[in-house]
Amino acid sequence: MEKNMTRTDPPAILVVDDERANLIAMRHLLKVLPCMVVEAQSGEEALRLCLGERFALALIDVRMPGMDGFELAELLRGTEHTKEMPLLFVSATLTQMPHALQGYQAGALDYIQKPVDDRILLSKVKVLLDLHQTREELRLHRDHLAILVAERTASLEQARAELRALHRHVEQAREQERRRIARALHDEMGNTLAQQKMTIEWLLGNRRDPEQTHQELERLKGQVEEAIAKVRHLTLILRPPVLDHGTLPEILEWQATQFEKSSGIHCRVETAPMDTPMDENHKLALFRILQESLTNVGRHAAASEVAIALHRLDRRIQLTIQDNGCGIPDEILLDPRRCLGLRGMEERACQNGGELHVETSSAGTRVTASLPMGDGS
Ligand SMILES: Nc1ncnc2c1ncn2[C@@H]1O[C@H](COP(=O)(O)OP(=O)(O)O)[C@@H](O)[C@H]1O
Ligand SMILES: [Mg+2]
Repeated sequence: MEKNMTRTDPPAILVVDDERANLIAMRHLLKVLPCMVVEAQSGEEALRLCLGERFALALIDVRMPGMDGFELAELLRGTEHTKEMPLLFVSATLTQMPHALQGYQAGALDYIQKPVDDRILLSKVKVLLDLHQTREELRLHRDHLAILVAERTASLEQARAELRALHRHVEQAREQERRRIARALHDEMGNTLAQQKMTIEWLLGNRRDPEQTHQELERLKGQVEEAIAKVRHLTLILRPPVLDHGTLPEILEWQATQFEKSSGIHCRVETAPMDTPMDENHKLALFRILQESLTNVGRHAAASEVAIALHRLDRRIQLTIQDNGCGIPDEILLDPRRCLGLRGMEERACQNGGELHVETSSAGTRVTASLPMGDGS
């Protein structure tokens, strides 16, 4: 890992000179600045050091045996990691043309004449250190921003995936409901109507025996009555009339009775009187939440009892459905893909300006929906 990546590390300056005495002198001189000094006695050593560290700038002696300062500068300029590092050449001859030009072409930012004037060197290095500091701060901000953007993108992506899953769940539920209605129509209505058709065909072909005709007509009447009862039952399941003219307590009590009859699970209902009219959408939302919660109790809870309570708290209305079943395991509750029914209920509560909470333990599950009274209050 690269060093000097955070603002708390002091910046590092690379000093390259083949003469030890010059390196020591430079170290002493730079001591007054808030920086670390790293020394290299050859161009090769400098390149090696640059692989592991990001330097604020480099002070490079031009004349060195082996790789000289110009060659080193060209190599540093050609490397992604070091191409932006400011380079200062230190030389006795550099200020004379064409040496100076050669230095700039190799990538030098500036040069310092030997023998070194302490004040000039310190002031140039200080400007470059300030520049480095500003750049580092910008880099930190940019990295921080990139992390924020990545986090936002990830959470947006997750929200989108959850929304898609919820949409799929709603579609599946709708499809399931259509299948159930189709089956009920086919099995119950289809059979009754087929029998009626057969009776009518018999009547058309055997009109001469009035006694038998009468009997068949009686049978037909019975079949028609049966068909009417079945249509009534189907209509009741699809859209209970109590939804249209019942108060919220009546609606919840009706639903609890239906559930008790079909599941055998005992339901206790406790409802506070609702004397003020309530928003129809909120009423429907609470009914559907109760319906879905009771379906869950019937399917998953292995409970023997459910307590349903409706309370009014200030201008809000709170419905709780508490069972004494096995509870929802954590690994299911924490996995949004496995709780689409519960998410759907939560969504329904939110759409109506409310909220939904699920508390669960091995002693049972409690679903609490809280909604504003709505326009009617
Ligand atoms: N009252 C409950 N008691 C026990 N487990 C429950 C209860 N309600 C829900 N669960 C568990 O939580 C899961 C998620 O419920 P839900 O989101 O309604 O999805 P679904 O009913 O389609 O499986 C269920 O599969 C079940 O394992
Ligand atoms: Mg469910």
